Amino acid sequence: MSGAEAAPLIAAAPKNDSLRGAVTLAHFFLRQRLRPGDLALDATCGNGLDTRLLAELTGPEGRVWGFDLQAAAIAATRALLEREGRLAQVTLIEAGHERLAEFAPAGLRAAVFNLGYLPGGDPAFTTSPASTLSALRQAASLLARQGIIVVSLYTGHEGGVEEALAVERWGAALAPKEFNVWCSRQLNRPAIAPYLMLVERTR
Ligand SMILES: C[S@@+](CC[C@H](N)C(=O)[O-])C[C@H]1O[C@@H](n2cnc3c(N)ncnc32)[C@H](O)[C@@H]1O
Repeated sequence: MSGAEAAPLIAAAPKNDSLRGAVTLAHFFLRQRLRPGDLALDATCGNGLDTRLLAELTGPEGRVWGFDLQAAAIAATRALLEREGRLAQVTLIEAGHERLAEFAPAGLRAAVFNLGYLPGGDPAFTTSPASTLSALRQAASLLARQGIIVVSLYTGHEGGVEEALAVERWGAALAPKEFNVWCSRQLNRPAIAPYLMLVERTR
């Protein structure tokens, strides 16, 4: 089910409510938008921190789908969720997010794309423009009204600039009657600092 409008946030405020960095800003929007019972998707589980937040915000009555190509990432995410008693509400899929429509349903209230490479993993193994764009298109078509996609973009690694520009071009071409598309950069940090794109479905 999609979240009831009046339901309270179950994880209202982070312990440290600083807005430093793209991922923190993504979490700020997710906390604003997600409610218990919602459906959500993490397109790049990595170490599981984003998946954990989605599970926390959607609660036991919600459902989360998490994807990663790397077995180590799925294992790390599973271990984190298990430790926190949140595994039952999450479906973890060891597959490329370009296959997400095979697994995830329509009606998503949020989809998270934290691009780049696995922190602590092989920096040569990164997300790539073709599969990222395919997954973004699928996620956009599965969004509920007022559902959001948050994309953390990294330009500091090889191929990062190309991927970020491809994602920006995709976002800029979305029909304004159907989607609101935002881009947020931290102006007082170096130009290569990660930044955030947000897509909201309007109808
Ligand atoms: C920046 S990390 C994600 C961080 C993570 N969300 C967290 O909270 O720790 C990017 C992840 O994308 C994964 N990845 C790369 N290509 C992918 C693809 N086509 N489908 C799914 N995951 C992919 C990598 O294996 C890596 O774990």
